[in-house]
Amino acid sequence: MNNNYNKDSILKLLDPLTPDNADLLEALHLIQENFGYLSKEALEIVGEKLSLSVAHVYGSATYYADFRFEPPPETIIGWCSGPACLLKNGIGIRDAMLAVFGTELGQQLDNPSVEISMAQCNGTCEQSPQIWINEKVVGKLSVSKAITIARDIKEGK
Ligand code: FES
Repeated sequence: MNNNYNKDSILKLLDPLTPDNADLLEALHLIQENFGYLSKEALEIVGEKLSLSVAHVYGSATYYADFRFEPPPETIIGWCSGPACLLKNGIGIRDAMLAVFGTELGQQLDNPSVEISMAQCNGTCEQSPQIWINEKVVGKLSVSKAITIARDIKEGK
């Protein structure tokens, strides 16, 4: 993750893109992949670069659930909601982890800095049931393993 979130670094990232609507989603994805979220300033710069109104850029960005508008938490736990994981007690794993953190899916917590979000199958079903911790697969889970992982994260281990 690039921590140098400023106008120059955003413009450098958007350099290959051309002014029109066709590159809008690519621009938003590039910024989120590099900086972790879309700041207000970044949305304005995208509008300038692609000759689109800020309202248009903001409207498109907020349409998609994948985009974040605040800095992400330190730990993002992706819970796989795909069929192979569900067949192997994915719901039990999800509910156990949510209970440890006292949270809900998609809710960002500050202390610990964590969020459990719903994710789709990534094709590694041989590791089911699984979660992703900051995009790293943690597979062949059981409820008790999931509780241990959640407690460790909660205690900062
Ligand atoms: S269903 Fe979970 S990884 Fe495929």
